[in-house]
Amino acid sequence: MEKWRISRHIVKRSSTSLFKSLLSTNFEKSINTSGSTYKSGRNCNPYVEHYFQCQKRHFQTCCHPLRDYTGNLHASKATNLEHICRIQYKSFGSVATQIQRNPSFSTLNSDDVDHFKKILGEKNVIQDEDRLLTANVDWMGKYKGSSKLLLQPRSTEEVSQILKYCNTRCLAVVPQGGNTGLVGGSVPVFDEVIINVGSMNHIISFDEVSGILVCEAGCILENLDSFLVNHGFMMPLDLGAKGSCQIGGNVSTNAGGLHFVRYGSLHGNVLGLEAVLANGTVLDMLGTLRKDNTGYDLKQLFIGSEGSLGIATKVSILTSPKPSSKNLAFLACKDYLSCQDALDSFTVYLQVYMPLDVGAKGSCQSGEMYQQCWRFAFGLEAVLEMVLCLTCLGLCAKIIQAMTDNSYLSGSEGSLDVATKFSILTSPKPSSKNQLFLLVKIILAVRFMMPLDLGAKGSCQIGGNVSTNAGGLHFVRYGSLHGNVLGLEAVLANGTVLDMLGTLRKDNTGYDLKQLFIGSEGSLGIATKVSILTSPKPSSKNLAFLACKDYLSCQKLLQEAKRKLGEILSAFEFLDSQSMELVLTHLEGVRNPLPPSIYEFYVLIETRGTDESYDKEKLEAFLLRSMEGGLIADGVVAQDINQASSFWRIREGLSEALVKAGAVYKYDLSLPIEKMYSIVEEMRLRLGQSEKVLGYGHLGDGNLHLNISRPNYDDSVLAKIEPFVYEWTSKHRGSISAEHGLGLMKANEIHYSKSPQTVQVMASIKKLLDPNGILNPYKVLPHNILYPEA
Ligand code: FAD
Ligand code: MLT
Ligand code: ZN
Repeated sequence: MEKWRISRHIVKRSSTSLFKSLLSTNFEKSINTSGSTYKSGRNCNPYVEHYFQCQKRHFQTCCHPLRDYTGNLHASKATNLEHICRIQYKSFGSVATQIQRNPSFSTLNSDDVDHFKKILGEKNVIQDEDRLLTANVDWMGKYKGSSKLLLQPRSTEEVSQILKYCNTRCLAVVPQGGNTGLVGGSVPVFDEVIINVGSMNHIISFDEVSGILVCEAGCILENLDSFLVNHGFMMPLDLGAKGSCQIGGNVSTNAGGLHFVRYGSLHGNVLGLEAVLANGTVLDMLGTLRKDNTGYDLKQLFIGSEGSLGIATKVSILTSPKPSSKNLAFLACKDYLSCQDALDSFTVYLQVYMPLDVGAKGSCQSGEMYQQCWRFAFGLEAVLEMVLCLTCLGLCAKIIQAMTDNSYLSGSEGSLDVATKFSILTSPKPSSKNQLFLLVKIILAVRFMMPLDLGAKGSCQIGGNVSTNAGGLHFVRYGSLHGNVLGLEAVLANGTVLDMLGTLRKDNTGYDLKQLFIGSEGSLGIATKVSILTSPKPSSKNLAFLACKDYLSCQKLLQEAKRKLGEILSAFEFLDSQSMELVLTHLEGVRNPLPPSIYEFYVLIETRGTDESYDKEKLEAFLLRSMEGGLIADGVVAQDINQASSFWRIREGLSEALVKAGAVYKYDLSLPIEKMYSIVEEMRLRLGQSEKVLGYGHLGDGNLHLNISRPNYDDSVLAKIEPFVYEWTSKHRGSISAEHGLGLMKANEIHYSKSPQTVQVMASIKKLLDPNGILNPYKVLPHNILYPEA
């Protein structure tokens, strides 16, 4: 049986010579190895065997890891489906896991089986002993259940019907994917009905512009990756079991895998989810938007919930452009301390010394070598990302300011005192808040930066950022706070302090509750402490201010930028000519860096990296190609930090300019990128030439800021804008709040972006955590859903 396959890892080329010359260590050339084959049902680990022997003595009965331990048998004679134990005990790994079958669960009978056959057809209702044997045993051969039934639904509707029925009959079920789980979660403990969604294995859509893949939950990870290869993309996660595990299983276990260090957690990469609850309700949370801040991000609860909250049936996931080069080094270290030292020196060497020293030493002769160093460094940089506990929420402004004192194009940060870096990296844990504050400041000033940046950075607080799940200008590079917030302390409405302030990059113990608070806009609790993953500060930045003749060119430019600039692309923002005009009119000292012209669109592209000349070369080559291809009509690259600041001022100053101009109807929409600007054009037609309709925003994230600017508020104008803008967004499966939240303005409009079932579950959660509704009332959720009787 070839089911449990460790797939081949493609090692394009080992860079022996490079690292040898850099580190004078012995390297073996790494070779391609073929996949190993693992089979289930192999011999048990002797320690496990020993353990079970002890257990056997303890319970005075037979106990084998591949056999049930059955005590006090009360066989059900009521069925002709073999007798099932009414009360069973199981002991798998520790004394604490002795389990008694829940007597309130029903036992499967022939009527049940007939019913399932009606729903699924004969061949998807499996009673065959051999097939049940495989489905009853886990991958390690350590856990074995005694289910008599395996169901293989082919659609969400079928999953829903199965659960509805099981719920009313009180039949327990176990959701199963590729059955590669390692904690006994995927197999029945007793006689639970197994539901395997492996037949739901269709790719629903793939968008080559955004890299967003939507598929059914039963798709095998490796198949998805193979599909993506043909499109120049790859899955953001990779694990040894990829030949068997299913994406639904990956999401339900919040799988980490081999590339977590680079691509981060599924909490950041899963954009949408469809899940069926125990009562058969289908929760459609299958968004394909990078940003959606309408209410609680419920899907986050299901990520890592191990099938205990619902069955995942469809997943939408952000994939990554496939890198055009890979290197792999296989190293030997004499002890663990050396491994740590090696990691430190690699990172410091490649990120800090290299741009200064390597060229001077004459050992880095070619641009290619530089590129190798940089790519390797990029793979490692995340390893040393510093986790900071920002104990005082008011710090945000200062911290962001400190971090943005970066110099563009100067590369001077590379020359910072390395001794300081070492002392920071090896600093003992600070013992007081003041010390911590100092350390935070030093770290940020020297080496790290916040993953988010927004126009309001001088005033907003980190607690507010988390509570609104703020996106900002560098979301395209550093991703969502759902991926970057590692821990949170929050105070509930009744005063309970929820300490979720972990600082671990990975923690799959139970539901990731903090995710519920990210973006909940103060309606579930007050955030009091945050732990956040910061990013190594780039030592080189470049910024280009470009003009494009039409929206299609902007879109194509984005697509190209993602491909050609890859890992160094850190911002892709756009504004239309009306926005430019408004900024020039209302903000003092702002000038168009391009000669006055008739360009309809302006784009800001920023890169961030560690190698000034390499990054610059890469950006310039990209700009040149795009100009030759007609995607860019005109453009200029900032030559120093002052020019860069003046370019950013145009984009960041828009909100201020709008307020100065008078009244503003402001909408913050997530839309498929190709549709994004159509709403601006339609709105212009709808309102007529007398109204100023502006479009700008975070093009790289599919996030449009649509603004209607006028001297004063007027209800007749508003009536033309709303509900049209919401209906239009909903029709195109967009979100009516990409990053700003719902607040008071859109609390009653949530249904344009969230299904009634989803809103209902949100209301239940709100009632659970804040039964009296004292927290931020009238916001986020419609009042009539929270309090229908009022
Ligand atoms: P506040 O505005 O004070 O509060 C916002 C919400 O969070 C409220 O519901 C409040 O009750 C809740 N809240 C605040 N603190 C806590 C807490 N400690 N615990 C629980 N709930 C809390 N937003 C973006 O996403 N991207 C941008 O690019 C962006 N640019 C902006 C530019 C300008 C010029 C301005 C004025 C705003 C911009 N915003 C942007 C919007 C705003 O800055 C963000 O929503 C920000 O995250 C709000 O943080 P704050 O501390 O100001 O929160
Ligand atoms: C921005 O991106 O500038 C902010 O979200 C604020 C705005 O929409 O005006
Ligand atoms: Zn914004």
